[in-house]
Amino acid sequence: METSMDRQALFDHLTRTPLEVLMARADAVRVRHVGEAVHVRGIIEFSNHCVRNCLYCGVRRDNKTIERYRMAPNEVIELALKVAASGVPTLVLQSGDDFAYAAPDIAAMVREIKRRAEVAVTLAVGERPFADYEQWREAGADRYLLKHETASEELYVLLHPGQRLESRLKAWRHLRSLGYEVGTGMIVGLPGQTPDDLAADLLLTEELQPDMCGIGPFIPQADTPLAHTPPGDFAMTLRMLALARLACPAVNLPATTALATLNPADGHFLAFRAGANVIMPSFTPPDYRRHYRIYDHKANITMEQVLMEIARAGRKPARPQGGVHRAHRS
Ligand code: 5AD
Repeated sequence: METSMDRQALFDHLTRTPLEVLMARADAVRVRHVGEAVHVRGIIEFSNHCVRNCLYCGVRRDNKTIERYRMAPNEVIELALKVAASGVPTLVLQSGDDFAYAAPDIAAMVREIKRRAEVAVTLAVGERPFADYEQWREAGADRYLLKHETASEELYVLLHPGQRLESRLKAWRHLRSLGYEVGTGMIVGLPGQTPDDLAADLLLTEELQPDMCGIGPFIPQADTPLAHTPPGDFAMTLRMLALARLACPAVNLPATTALATLNPADGHFLAFRAGANVIMPSFTPPDYRRHYRIYDHKANITMEQVLMEIARAGRKPARPQGGVHRAHRS
């Protein structure tokens, strides 16, 4: 570990240390531990149905105003293969917590993608029975993204009706025990969230030592109970990124879409300066994507812009893993 991450030190870094100082430290740690490469992960948001009712999220169950969609497994597979063939080395299959896709449906998608492309597959489909996680791992899924969202028990219970932080962490640890690379992450600027709560997020992250940590600001969505809550603070989100890099030097840290939504001109750029080494463009077909409205004005970035942002930050795209390009060209 690069700094002493006790709660008081974290509190000071979140409230007092100049942002430039934190960013410079994080950048140095990033250079040393993960280098100049930026990893591109292609997201496919294949369903916006969700059984959960998270207060901040636009695809929450009680939002009757958004149009719901589900992509057919074949449609997901064909799109995934197309994205993989374009040289994107990792795919993230993401959806709301949608039990209409039974475990074998998702397993079959994963199996088929892994059979036909040399690509890492990440699943981000929420909390499911452990047997489902096992089945998907056996089908070849490499990674799983299950953010803890907030480490404050009190906030967690308030914002996720009927859900418990403890169960989520139990699921997270189970995923890790199955051999997945596992990602966590949190939302910065939730209503009532204090610097102490954010320090708790970092302490939990340090304890979990995740393979990935997605950190984004809260952004209000008009059809949720938090429609009129102000968005999270941009600079505070950069602080959290930088501190996550210090707490977990080799972690994969995305420059998140939510951060770019708050600051379209410089969000990705500054994230890359604050420790980020991953970018996750969406490949969801536009007619579906506009309904994947977890928050309003969600930014979208094309592959061309991704490469421009990477170059602008003075970095380079990571080489595709083992022969993705070769397999495609031969
Ligand atoms: N603002 C920011 N992030 C949000 N998410 C959901 N709703 C919001 C919001 N209003 C994030 C959560 C979830 C991911 C899919 O999107 O962290 O894990």
